[in-house]
Amino acid sequence: MKLAKKIVLITGASSGIGAELARRAAAAGARLALVARRADRLEKLAAECGPDTLVLAADLSSLEACCAAVDQTVDKLGGLDVLLLNAGISSNLPVAEVSDPALFSTVMQTNYFGPVHCAWRALPHLRRSRGAIVVVSSLQGKAGFPGFAAYSASKHALHGFFDSLRAEQDDVQITIACPGPVATEIGDGRPESSQKGIMSAGRCAEIIVAAVESGKREVVMTAAGKLGVWLRPFLPGLFDRIVRKKTQRFFLKNGSG
Ligand SMILES: NC(=O)c1ccc[n+]([C@@H]2O[C@H](COP(=O)([O-])OP(=O)(O)OC[C@H]3O[C@@H](n4cnc5c(N)ncnc54)[C@H](OP(=O)(O)O)[C@@H]3O)[C@@H](O)[C@H]2O)c1
Repeated sequence: MKLAKKIVLITGASSGIGAELARRAAAAGARLALVARRADRLEKLAAECGPDTLVLAADLSSLEACCAAVDQTVDKLGGLDVLLLNAGISSNLPVAEVSDPALFSTVMQTNYFGPVHCAWRALPHLRRSRGAIVVVSSLQGKAGFPGFAAYSASKHALHGFFDSLRAEQDDVQITIACPGPVATEIGDGRPESSQKGIMSAGRCAEIIVAAVESGKREVVMTAAGKLGVWLRPFLPGLFDRIVRKKTQRFFLKNGSG
């Protein structure tokens, strides 16, 4: 699905991959609704994306906020063609070190229920426009990584939900994107895209837009990510050992998800 002239709602547009997706979608000629909690960031980005851009400050961990974001986009922009579900938070703590188990539901609320609630509300509109849903998952949606149980579980859950939704109907194209480590603000650290194995947010957004425009069901990023996903069913023990080593290097040190 080409993005030109499409009405695109992007969640988590105030920074990182979401902001870069907004810039690329605007450059492709889409009309945008930008959603996140930090309104000041969204306003600045909207000024870059064109005068029609709608800014919706919302905390998408609540059902009401998700419904309102979809409803306002449809009311103010006149419909909905693409729902880009990108908002997410990370969690970087081994399970044995979690002192408050509320962490597990907090991560699930934003990373899983947020996208599910937005998609549920948007579905009738997207079926009408024969539109698309784009879900920003992670390599951690394909395999569990040490130190990221809550995060990884929330991303796995997205695959179950959106693969089922895809199987239920043909009207709405569904693309699930699985980036590896990307240089953004997520987590505790700030990895640089110049570091080996860390992708820039711009490159990640470019890959996601290309996947949507070519109608891909799923895009797994980086050669190492593709190799890991292929290897895991055959050699799960070896996969876990490699991931433990890599996670130490990329995630536990940098705090990204
Ligand atoms: N960076 C990586 O290494 C990496 C790897 C794989 C997948 N991902 C995924 O990529 C997506 C984007 O993350 P990013 O790396 O670009 O990090 P980021 O710069 O921290 O962006 C996260 C976005 O989500 C928004 N957000 C978080 N909680 C929200 C809530 N409750 N309601 C509304 N918006 C909320 C944030 O905006 P506000 O704070 O303004 O609300 C922000 O715009 C996430 O789903 C993440 O899991 C990232």
